[in-house]
Amino acid sequence: MKIATILGTRPEIIKMAPIIDEISKRGIDQIILHTGQHYDKEMSDNFFCDLEIPTPDYNIHVGSGTHGKQTGLMMKGIEEVLIEEKPDIVLVQGDTNAVLAGALVASKLHIAIGHVEAGLRSFDMTMPEEINRRAADVTSTMYFIPTEQSALNLLAEGFSHKNLIITGNTVVDACFRHLEIAKKRGFEEKSLEELYIENMNNILTLTMHRAENVDVKERAASIISALKELSDMNIIFPIHPRTKHTLESFGLFDELNNLDHVHIVKPLGYLDFLLLTSKSTLILTDSGGLQEEAITLNVPVLTLRYNTERPETVTAGGNILVGSDKEIILEKANKILSDKEFADQMRNAKNPYGVGNSAKLTVDAIQDYYKNGLLDIKAPEDIMGSFTRKMASVDEDITVAEFEGSHNSLIHMVFDGDKMRFPADDLNLNGMMITYDKRE
Ligand code: UD1
Ligand code: UDP
Repeated sequence: MKIATILGTRPEIIKMAPIIDEISKRGIDQIILHTGQHYDKEMSDNFFCDLEIPTPDYNIHVGSGTHGKQTGLMMKGIEEVLIEEKPDIVLVQGDTNAVLAGALVASKLHIAIGHVEAGLRSFDMTMPEEINRRAADVTSTMYFIPTEQSALNLLAEGFSHKNLIITGNTVVDACFRHLEIAKKRGFEEKSLEELYIENMNNILTLTMHRAENVDVKERAASIISALKELSDMNIIFPIHPRTKHTLESFGLFDELNNLDHVHIVKPLGYLDFLLLTSKSTLILTDSGGLQEEAITLNVPVLTLRYNTERPETVTAGGNILVGSDKEIILEKANKILSDKEFADQMRNAKNPYGVGNSAKLTVDAIQDYYKNGLLDIKAPEDIMGSFTRKMASVDEDITVAEFEGSHNSLIHMVFDGDKMRFPADDLNLNGMMITYDKRE
């Protein structure tokens, strides 16, 4: 079996690292293809080193550009590599342009796609990420889904539960593994040593790079005006290159940089960043990955967005959405900083993203699919006949797998009272309402 991993940006490298490592440990043939979307050393190469994974076999070097140009160049380059390498499955992660390009190319070549971190939905179609993740989900064969809630998003869109594999999120694997290494090693970055972070208290870690915040002057200015008033905190801001460019062009960079309590540093390596966030009193971010890491590291997070595709972090109590509104940011930040009980509740929120074995579960499932011939993408040869969509209320002790076997059917939705449930094979359906396809 040969597995191809396509990645292109910082979070994809971090979240695919545990899977790449697991594939290597099992001696499975693999290739890594970098689109080159992120190319600065601090946004790319350093992570292969920090996370101890092999450097990419191919780099397409697409660089920066408009969505159309970037995605088009990626598709052309990815197609050439996949035709040459003929992998059994292509893995894409998350919601970047690499995911869109990789999924479109692989599906047209009839190569199975495994979408890692599938099923997330912000329901905001103005976000390029929402378009990318939805398109990848349409073309995928295997879905590695962080939580049951994300699996329900896919079920509600009509996907069969058979290929939805709930694995947790590999970011937990990465966090747990590398935090220990980081603690033993201590900070490496000169800039951080200069700031004496190791002895610093009241740290607020800030990151932002979403177009809706950093490409809109009013929003960026509103967030900065809130930061100005949080002067009791040491705000450490490892700045994303996109944000540096736009804040400079809006004339806001110097205003922020001149504040005594704000320390703007270049993007940090993963080990330094984990040390920083784990030492923080509060995280302020619009990053997807950081919302997950915050709840994993037990640090309260305020998310600078009006929606999130990680609603589990909010319902668990570890994350509050504050948008870019100065007053809301200040109200929630001050509450966390002044009300210990409230802050402790946020810190103790249960992590919905698993226990750190996502990479193992992912590679187990891929090997299982390969062994059973489920990665072969073929046009259906059976005469499919017809099926009827039905609804039923179940009043016997019968599991999902037993019901499907005995009724020659596929269950779609399961309702336990007003709560939708995931039709796991071993779920006892007694007392529940189901919808299913009955094959004739
Ligand atoms: C991309 C992803 C986003 C992800 C983020 C992670 C898409 C549509 N966006 O956004 O989902 O959350 O990565 O960080 O795929 N730049 C550099 N050096 C680099 C990379 C970028 O200077 O190494 C600058 C360029 O000016 C570029 C800008 O940052 O135009 C934006 O980069 P781009 O890769 O287009 O989007 P991100 O904002 O990084
Ligand atoms: N990160 C890092 N150094 C930094 C800032 C972030 O290593 O200076 C890591 C962070 O731990 C997380 C990932 O980068 O795992 C998040 O990347 P980003 O915010 O760029 O993308 P998103 O998750 O929003 O797609």
